[in-house]
Amino acid sequence: MNYKKNKLHIENILVDRVIKKFGTPTYCYSYNQLKDNILKFKNNFNNINPLICFAVKANNNIKILKEIGKLGLGADVVSRGELIAALDAKISPNKIVFSGVGKTYEEILFASQKKIFLINAESQSEIKTIVKVAKITKRRINIGIRLNPDVDAETIKEITTGKNSNKFGLNSSEVIKLINYCKTSKFINLKCLSVHIGSQILNHKPYLKMLKAVQKIIDKSNYQFEYIDLGGGMGINYRDNNKELNYNRYSLEIHKFIKKNNTKIIFEPGRSIIGNSGYLLTKIIYIKKTGKINFVIVDAGMNDLMRPALYKAYHKVIPSRKTKRKIFKRHDFVGPVCETTDKFISLNSYQKLNEGDNIVICDVGAYGKVLSSNYNLRLDANEILIKNSKVFRIRKKGTLQALLR
Ligand code: LLP
Repeated sequence: MNYKKNKLHIENILVDRVIKKFGTPTYCYSYNQLKDNILKFKNNFNNINPLICFAVKANNNIKILKEIGKLGLGADVVSRGELIAALDAKISPNKIVFSGVGKTYEEILFASQKKIFLINAESQSEIKTIVKVAKITKRRINIGIRLNPDVDAETIKEITTGKNSNKFGLNSSEVIKLINYCKTSKFINLKCLSVHIGSQILNHKPYLKMLKAVQKIIDKSNYQFEYIDLGGGMGINYRDNNKELNYNRYSLEIHKFIKKNNTKIIFEPGRSIIGNSGYLLTKIIYIKKTGKINFVIVDAGMNDLMRPALYKAYHKVIPSRKTKRKIFKRHDFVGPVCETTDKFISLNSYQKLNEGDNIVICDVGAYGKVLSSNYNLRLDANEILIKNSKVFRIRKKGTLQALLR
């Protein structure tokens, strides 16, 4: 993304032109950015040679999943729906892992029938359900056990998953108990120990603590795991001044770890793969000026992008055309939804804006469209992909007819 003659372009395509053709609100993805992120991710861990399973929860668009699959990644899914999406996108079942605390009998049966690579179990009851399924299908099921290492990921409280107050995984004594149980089961092949401590992590230190917790389990259980699934969580730079995650330190530690334990690594990244390749294109409907605040009312709402309302998340909001004149007054960029939290950002000054101007909300490729809803009976936004200087519609805008049926 860059400005040429003050006009915003994504991969050399003029954003205003895209908006003219596809309307607003529209999610727009850049293929080059996606590809770049995947190459960088692989490169950051090239001494480890991991199996990289894209966390489909971050973005489940089939066309995007297809591109991700073609670039060599597998998938991490958390529901029957996501599993079907990954298979539809031609991601090979032997690169699919199934995570989540509440997989149903039917979901486990379906996953087993599709012969996916791994089911990461998160409770004793789930393991019992897996055994039940294996007895019915007469096929041994590959599983992982998810450890809750009680490590603070030092991220937004709502997206922390590795503390013992979080519902995810099992504490170390339960993990050891279940390893011993699985060792003796004819129906289960315990392949993996998995862990995931949270999302949008920018400090490598929690990851190092997590690795230590995993090491303790290996030492205590004396079990040879073929795989260790270290989850995802790598943070991205929503603000220009965010410090970057120290991939170097993390990968060095993992390298030592795999040498010592003779095991292979799985990652489940979502945000770091797709986050900064997505933009939400929107248009100013009205500008309402009050004494202290200019309310810039755009045609995307919290139903299209929940992250600011849910987590007070920061997303850059930029104009499609840059102008010189600056207005030194508070600007609140808000949507049309009838909720006070339907606000994207509040800034102390902004360039002079007019009704009808186009505005772009950045870094919304992960947990953007997937978290959207039809609240206020608003329709699903379009999704488009820019690839090789061409623009493809990759999901149609929803229709009222379908919603009301
Ligand atoms: N693996 C597991 C087991 C997970 O629970 C998650 C994310 C991931 C992998 C991928 O994490 P990532 O690399 O994307 O950080 N809606 C929130 C994020 C929730 C993340 C949930 N789990 C947000 O918008 O920030």
